[in-house]
Amino acid sequence: MTAYPYEVHEYDVVVVGAGGAGLRATLGMAEQGLRTACVTKVFPTRSHTVAAQGGIAASLSNMGPDHWQWHMYDTVKGSDWLGDTDAMEYLAREAPKAVYELEHYGVPFSRTEEGKIYQRPFGGHTTEFGEGPPVQRTCAAADRTGHAILHTLYGQSLRHNAEFYIEYFALDLLITDGRCTGVVCWKLDDGTIHVFNAKMVVLATGGYGRAYFSATSAHTCTGDGGGMVARAGLPLQDMEFVQFHPTGIYGSGCLITEGARGEGGYLTNSEGERFMERYAPTYKDLASRDVVSRCITIEIREGRGVGEHKDHMHLNLSHIPPETLHERLPGISESARIFAGVDLTKEPIPILPTVHYNMGGIPTNYWGEVLNPTPENPDRIFPGLMAVGEAGCASVHGANRLGSNSLIDLVVFGRAAAIRAGEIVDPKARNHPVDKAGIDKALDRFDHFRNASGAVPTADLRLEMQKTMQADAAVFRTDKTLAEGVKKMEKVAAKMDDLKVTDRSLIWNSDLMETLELANLMPNALATIVAAEARKESRGAHAHEDYPDRDDKTWRKHSLAWVDGDKVRLAYRPVHLEPLTKEENGGIDLKKIAPKKRVY
Ligand code: FUM
Repeated sequence: MTAYPYEVHEYDVVVVGAGGAGLRATLGMAEQGLRTACVTKVFPTRSHTVAAQGGIAASLSNMGPDHWQWHMYDTVKGSDWLGDTDAMEYLAREAPKAVYELEHYGVPFSRTEEGKIYQRPFGGHTTEFGEGPPVQRTCAAADRTGHAILHTLYGQSLRHNAEFYIEYFALDLLITDGRCTGVVCWKLDDGTIHVFNAKMVVLATGGYGRAYFSATSAHTCTGDGGGMVARAGLPLQDMEFVQFHPTGIYGSGCLITEGARGEGGYLTNSEGERFMERYAPTYKDLASRDVVSRCITIEIREGRGVGEHKDHMHLNLSHIPPETLHERLPGISESARIFAGVDLTKEPIPILPTVHYNMGGIPTNYWGEVLNPTPENPDRIFPGLMAVGEAGCASVHGANRLGSNSLIDLVVFGRAAAIRAGEIVDPKARNHPVDKAGIDKALDRFDHFRNASGAVPTADLRLEMQKTMQADAAVFRTDKTLAEGVKKMEKVAAKMDDLKVTDRSLIWNSDLMETLELANLMPNALATIVAAEARKESRGAHAHEDYPDRDDKTWRKHSLAWVDGDKVRLAYRPVHLEPLTKEENGGIDLKKIAPKKRVY
């Protein structure tokens, strides 16, 4: 047993992560008077939400007719009928309320001439249950929407006396008698250890984009929540579904918002052809992301890529008036100049599909409560633990997320978690005590990595993992690439026992921090490739060339992956098919959202 002294902090709620979901949950908890701590490994306004550009989806009808039912239908179709119907209904119904709350908190949205929140078109968002023209549903603060939301939510959380523990790295969850009772953290700037004991722990740790070589995600997106949950013996859900954003800048992977196509931008191949017109005759460049990413990949494979190696595509914006670019897309004008050396008022931007989002994550219900399913009770709740945002899987995105449904997911479900906590967390009750054995176990593991003296440097193993995932769990997958990928990833994961950490200090030790992050990335990556290998169909972002069709009879179900070291056990749970409300006008007609062929 390792002797690290530690300080204990007691709260009603501890939120781990300070991105959009973490801050919205923190604010909602604190507003209700719950003693709330937010523990975050980076300064809140540096969380990855800050990079969200194009906007947040809500059927406000500011630019033309819209309805939450249409938004729900688009989300169902976007998910390729894998999302949970109750959660998707909750998202679409609550979205307008959640956006108006943001407005009242002070988010500086762009405005229409009449002073309403400006909304732009985004891929897969339509009218009339997919029968009408594209809708302008994505509420924007120029192309810096995430930045605006994050700063506002942080300010509001401080105003409501939420307490922030900044640059604290969460090591492990504490589980006592079958419930979560807290989390053990390492304070990066002075090396001290802190135990947070709470009635409710909320994981808002974001996605695991950095399991791949090229991602729009920040380097901090290392699936820390998923890693902790896997070590606690809980499953991860739908991990095979990884979104490639069609327009990452070629070479750097830096995001060029879908809002660029929403404002009139279009893609061309080496023949100057607007190829999306061939693949998606109705919605063209505004088809959903999985579709556009596949079309780009096909064009490149068939020899119509641009550039010396014919290995990317062009995004054209030079026909858009410079004043519009300046007003609506200032951020990407800068990104194109810095990362591609391109003046987008004159030249096209070189782009390539780039890993962007994880549809899968920690399974939850639509209140954010973490699930620990059994065959008899697939919706069994694991007490004391919630997960929100990209870390969680409610599941609203199913097999493919629509652009701008991420920011709305963060605030709707961050808010839902706070509403639920207000009902089930009693501030007057005493906290469940933490179990000393759990703390010792977490610190033994920490000490093990701190003193790791094997042969493999962390950076080398991380690169091997990233290259394997990039090659074998890509936009298109086959039985062969997936089977090879599983074998390779099992070997990569086994090397975690042979890591070499050279810096032994406790203060600002990036070698140790990156090792702990790698230990979180690994179960996420492993679950992704194993679940992908098992799924013998094509659905949303999982495009399996040996099984090109969706198979609802066999595969309309969520995968569950329990990861233990280099081994993964899979099981499945049913998709929720029932909406929350079915009554006329107040709800959704099941016939309208029944599965059909997904064309754009
Ligand atoms: O394209 C974008 O602005 C990204 C938005 C999103 O992922 O929702």
